[in-house]
Formats: sequence, C-alpha cells, structure tokens
Amino acid sequence: MDKIFTKNEIIDLLENDSKNDWLFKIADKVRRENVGDEVHLRGLIEFSNICKCSCKYCGLRSENKNLERYRMSKEEILSCAENAVKLGYKTIVLQSGEDVFYSVEKLCEIIREIKKFDVALTLSIGEKTYEEYSALKEAGADRYLLRIETTDKNLYKKMHPNMNFENRVACLYNLKTLGYEVGTGCLVGLPEQTFDSLAEDILFFKDLNADMIGIGPFIPNQNTPLSEAKGGDFWLALKVMAITRIMLPDINIPATTAMETLNPNGRLIALQSGANVVMPNVTSVQYRAKYEIYPNKICINDSPDKCRSCIEGKIKSIGRTISKNYGFHKI
Ligand code: 5AD
Ligand code: FES
Repeated sequence: MDKIFTKNEIIDLLENDSKNDWLFKIADKVRRENVGDEVHLRGLIEFSNICKCSCKYCGLRSENKNLERYRMSKEEILSCAENAVKLGYKTIVLQSGEDVFYSVEKLCEIIREIKKFDVALTLSIGEKTYEEYSALKEAGADRYLLRIETTDKNLYKKMHPNMNFENRVACLYNLKTLGYEVGTGCLVGLPEQTFDSLAEDILFFKDLNADMIGIGPFIPNQNTPLSEAKGGDFWLALKVMAITRIMLPDINIPATTAMETLNPNGRLIALQSGANVVMPNVTSVQYRAKYEIYPNKICINDSPDKCRSCIEGKIKSIGRTISKNYGFHKI
C-alpha cells in the first residue's frame, strides 16, 4: 500500500535529520518495488540559451549580459539527436530558454525528424498556449517538463517577475489534458522558502498526479540578483526527492545534475534514495558551458560519448542496469 504522509509528517521529516537514513532506505525500497532496478537514460539537448524570462535565480535570465548566447540550427539539433540515438538513448529531451525564435512550426519539423529515430521525445521549453502544446503533441512530442519551481505564491511572484503562478499551473493541467506525460518539480533552498512550502510542493505533485518529478537544490549564480543568496542544501533536496518517491511510488524521478554539482557522488546517492532516471547531456561540447543556468555545472568539457560511458560505469557500480526501453511512466 502506498505510504501517504500527512503535511505535518512531511514537515517533520524535512525539519529533522534524525530519520534521514530510514527515509532514504524506504524510498530506495519503494523505488525497487515499483519501478525496479533499471535506470532510464534521457539524452538532454540544450538547444538555445536565449530566454525572455527574468527568473531571479537563473543564469539564462534575459537581463544577464555576461552570457554569450547561442541558438542551435535544426541541423545541429538533429545531429546531436542522431548521435544520442547511436549511443543508445531511447529518449531525447529538447530543452531551451523561452526562446520565441523557434516557432511552433519550426519545433514541429524538428520533432517529426527526431521521432523518425524511434525514440520517445520530451520537451522542456517553457510556457505555451493550449493550442501550441496541442500542435507539438500532434507532431509527436510524448512528454513535457515544466517545473512549478515553488508552490508558495508569494515566493513564486518574487522569483518570477512578469510571470503568473496560475498560468503555470494551468499549463501543467493543459499538458495533462493533451495526453503528455507531465514532469514538474521544484527548487530546494530558494531564499525565504519554508519547510511548510516544500511540503506543499510535494502535495502539489501528488494532486497533479505527475508522471515525473525533478528536484534540485538552488545554486546561486553570480550573474543574477540572487548571487549572494545562501543556496540549497544537498541533503534537504535529497529528502524532498525521497519523500516524493514514497508519495508517488511508480513515477520517474531523475537524479539531477544540480545534485551532482553540490556533491561529487550526488547522482549515485540519489539513485539509491528513490531516483530511477539520469539525464546525461548530449549537447555538443562547444555549447555546453554556455548553458550556464548555475555555476560549476558538471560535464561542461565532456563529450556525449564520455558522459554515456561514465554514467554507465557509475550505474553498474551500484548493481543497477540501464534500461533498453523508452521508460514511459504508463506502459
Ligand atoms: N540553481 C539550480 N537550478 C536552477 N534552475 C534554474 N536556475 C537554477 C539555479 N540557479 C532549474 C530550474 C529550471 C531548470 C531547467 O533549472 O528549476 O526548471
Ligand atoms: Fe558526463 Fe560523467 S556524466 S562525465
């Protein structure tokens, strides 16, 4: 039976570290019993770092003039995707800032081409209208990642000037209605974020009945207004992830890159505390460093095949296997 924590129980687990070992062990057991020992790899293509948004924590924010911007051409994107498929990836993730240069028409063309490679396709390109999401789905997109970032409305407002919490929630429900597998998630350690609001984040994931949840610590970026902020704690982010696994036992949960940035063993620790997905970078090396959401991102000088073999070695070292399937939540 699913273990459902009450909000107070979640807050207690987040506040106190005395039950950490128990929590991570239970989350690992729930993961094994519900999604098994296979780890799903998703090849991540960061195809543009141009963004119209102003998220206070994010290095891609439009006000950041210290970042050299790039856009990959359709041909470059397809070449990264083809290379990823050759390396054995069964899911391609297309991620970018909110870059209006890529019209829905252009995106649909790219999606149709990538789908010819017989892979699942995930989009992570921000807020769009129902009609736009519908067209992208029609073109072949299977999944969509759109983190809610925080469910604390006041904090959301402070962190996202010119954005609207209700609209973001509406986007997530629109994606569900359209039949996407929907991924969301939150940042852990934003300034003024409380344990109460993190507990609400987890309850929101449950309410939405998400297919995938990505959780990462906030890492201050010197080129943002939050350069002096304290930043998130690896273990707290891991706890939010572990509780999420217990609350949503059979979903996909990535061991996030931000966790590895704060802890050299972060992804393996996450894989042993509830996670069952890793999203290695398959962007060509020339662009990697420029997709600087936060500092000290891992793998910025590594090639796609280096990352593929690196992560395979790590996964095998903890007795887990790499899935050969698409890794849908609902089969
Ligand atoms: N630290 C950690 N994660 C960040 N993101 C954006 N900025 C930061 C940061 N400074 C995350 C957001 C976004 C995802 C692509 O990257 O949660 O959804
Ligand atoms: Fe990129 Fe390890 S995953 S070098």
